[in-house]
Amino acid sequence: MTNPMNTLHSWLIYCRPGFERDCVEETQAKPVETAENSGFVVLQGKPKLAYKQLTFARQLLTLHGEVNDLPERDRLSPLLAALPAAPEKFGALYLEVPDTNEGKTLSGFTKRFQPLLEEALRTQGRLEVESDIHPSTGSGRTDMLPRLHIFFPDDHRALIATSDPHNSASALNGIQRVSMASDAPSRSYLKLAEAFEVFLDKKEQALWLKPGMTAIDLGAAPGGWTWQLVQRGLKVIAVDNGPLKGAAAGHPNIKHLREDGFRFRPQRPVDWLVCDMVEQPQRVAALMTEWFVGGMTQRAIFNLKLPMKKRVAALKEALDNLRTALNNKGIRYQLEARQLYHDREEVTIYLARKR
Ligand SMILES: C[S@@+](CC[C@H](N)C(=O)[O-])C[C@H]1O[C@@H](n2cnc3c(N)ncnc32)[C@H](O)[C@@H]1O
Repeated sequence: MTNPMNTLHSWLIYCRPGFERDCVEETQAKPVETAENSGFVVLQGKPKLAYKQLTFARQLLTLHGEVNDLPERDRLSPLLAALPAAPEKFGALYLEVPDTNEGKTLSGFTKRFQPLLEEALRTQGRLEVESDIHPSTGSGRTDMLPRLHIFFPDDHRALIATSDPHNSASALNGIQRVSMASDAPSRSYLKLAEAFEVFLDKKEQALWLKPGMTAIDLGAAPGGWTWQLVQRGLKVIAVDNGPLKGAAAGHPNIKHLREDGFRFRPQRPVDWLVCDMVEQPQRVAALMTEWFVGGMTQRAIFNLKLPMKKRVAALKEALDNLRTALNNKGIRYQLEARQLYHDREEVTIYLARKR
């Protein structure tokens, strides 16, 4: 007889340490393992979860099993023995760690272990080889097959999981890496760089971030986001009472206006609105709604700051109001909300008008 507990779907979700409870709350699944500041949660009981509809989940995986008491030597044999029989073949192997200090110390081991395990899986015919990737398009069967994830919460335990390439993050540890420009006025430059990588694929970036396009940056100082846009060839109006710094100050493609970002409106519609003002989420969401209802921008990336305890509820309220207002006006749109790697007590929203 099957134990009904075993038939429940188990999920492994990675998140920013400290946001485990938010993950549980937004999925509404049954918490199984949710240690605070661990950077991951194990949940059960929801047969379907959609990665794009989750904000605090960096990665969404189906959990198949775990290995406890991993020996210090020969970790290969117990891990191979614990692999699920199905799926028969994996498109990729990800060895992952939590975003904690312990995780950082383990990442040296995962880097050394990766080629050994890959080799063993290929020998068993369980890992797709790169020659299956189409040389001109770069895509192939490996894009379609589930990926195998082995997650090491610590050095003697491994959780064995798989991801659906169409319902998960493609980056290792669910963290999209981006690089800093040496001349960027602030580290916030990385946040907008990450947002573009997470929300837009390469084709969309080429289409919608073209040189000569226009953008408004509300709450722009000292200029990291503005600098990210300028690096991509856009012309930017940077609105902030504070000064722009470094290379952003006096740049020919940047017009700096010392105005209130809540009152400022452009003379003509722009391609992009970005907003990083530190304000109540309701107020920022209402401002974004106004810009979209007024047809003042095609796309927006904005931050909602969530310093309060009830983050999930505050976010839901702000976005529900925005959705209702756009729906009532018959505006078609795409909306995604995600806590990026560079987001602390905040989340980033991508909103785009659809034709
Ligand atoms: C987090 S910082 C922005 C950092 C910026 N995104 C960057 O990449 O460098 C927030 C900025 O919002 C500005 N700000 C807050 N309220 C504002 C308002 N009502 N109008 C214009 N700027 C505002 C502040 O002056 C501050 O410079």
